[in-house]
Amino acid sequence: MRVLLTGGSGFIGSHIALLLLEKGYDVLILDSFVNSSSKAINAIKAYLENKNLNYDLQTISGDIRDKKLLDKIFIDAAKKSNPIQAVLHLAGLKSVSDSLVNPLHYWDVNVCGTQNLLATMNENECYSIVFSSSATIYGLTDSVPISEDHKISPINPYGKTKVAIENMFYDLYRSNMKSWKICSLRYFNPVGAHPSGLIGEDPIGIPNNLFPYITQVAIGRRKFLNVFGDDWDTIDGSGVRDYIHIMDLSEGHINAIDYLCSKKSCFEIINLGSGKGYSVFQIISQFEQSTGSQIPFSIQCRRDGDVARCYADISKAKKFLGWTPKRSLEQICLDGWKWQRKNPNGYS
Ligand code: NAD
Ligand code: UFG
Repeated sequence: MRVLLTGGSGFIGSHIALLLLEKGYDVLILDSFVNSSSKAINAIKAYLENKNLNYDLQTISGDIRDKKLLDKIFIDAAKKSNPIQAVLHLAGLKSVSDSLVNPLHYWDVNVCGTQNLLATMNENECYSIVFSSSATIYGLTDSVPISEDHKISPINPYGKTKVAIENMFYDLYRSNMKSWKICSLRYFNPVGAHPSGLIGEDPIGIPNNLFPYITQVAIGRRKFLNVFGDDWDTIDGSGVRDYIHIMDLSEGHINAIDYLCSKKSCFEIINLGSGKGYSVFQIISQFEQSTGSQIPFSIQCRRDGDVARCYADISKAKKFLGWTPKRSLEQICLDGWKWQRKNPNGYS
């Protein structure tokens, strides 16, 4: 089965690409490389070749907003009698802070880009899509665990674009309920790396997120970690989040494709998280214990837009996708550290 993977060179996309290829899917990656490196694709190829696996991977450098390019991709695939049967749509911009400074750019890339993709899929009668949504759309809530029917209340332009896209999916589904199969996956905090250490997260500049910041402190690229608040109403005063191993998250996408294949039509929104909450201090301590590294830290004020705790109710994923996360926090630390140790400066 041939799938189009947009954003397939990014952190999450590269892990999904590798898994899809290992499972025998034909994968066509479309990525503009605006926030990723083609070295991730080379690493995927090297891994598969090292394992003597046959694979079918095509990479196209381009933008999801380029309608002519999208048309060509679908038409060329059909001409080769190997049409695109499903799309995993990850391409987009994801920085909360950048979205506050450049909101129109986020609406253009995320929303207009997705509209462009959906229009092309519609014209080419490709009706199956799995989408990367985000827990950020639940906004400033403290009521955990968060299930999919929780109030939607995004507090930044990035989150608002994800909501707009989910609304667009719903309208499209309602317009042709016989054909469309749509699964929007709301990710919590994807972290860690492939166990080979060949691919992983490589943020450009200073990491915004906790886990890559910790690995960069451990490898010596940053002196210490800033802990944003030790006065939250949590187990130890630091913020609690739902960290999910990137390979568990990737497996969730395989289950989502299988789910779509088993349906005549559907529109589902499903949380993907570990279902557990860990505090910043718990993450530091687990990382130190698992890797033998030291993570010096400094307590800072609370960060704007943060909440005390956020973790998922993952019962819908279990029920609908037959999916449960398997990897522990220790595994997350070990794999994330392996990637950082093998690649102290990421892909560069
Ligand atoms: P990433 O930036 O590493 O990957 C996104 C990829 O999309 C990059 O390779 C980038 O070059 C590409 N891209 C961006 N704009 C594009 C465009 N116009 N056309 C084609 N390609 C384009 O981010 P990620 O962490 O891998 O996230 C993937 C998806 O998951 C995003 O949609 C993000 O919003 C969503 N998500 C991520 C997280 C997270 O914590 N990482 C959480 C929730 C949701
Ligand atoms: N934190 C620190 N120091 C840092 C970075 C983070 O103490 O340097 C703390 C935060 O205050 C928070 C926790 O670590 O308590 C996790 O923060 P992250 O930035 O790693 O993750 P968030 O939950 O804030 O946000 C992430 C993505 C969002 C996404 C959300 C839910 O950045 O885009 O997960 O999926 F929407």
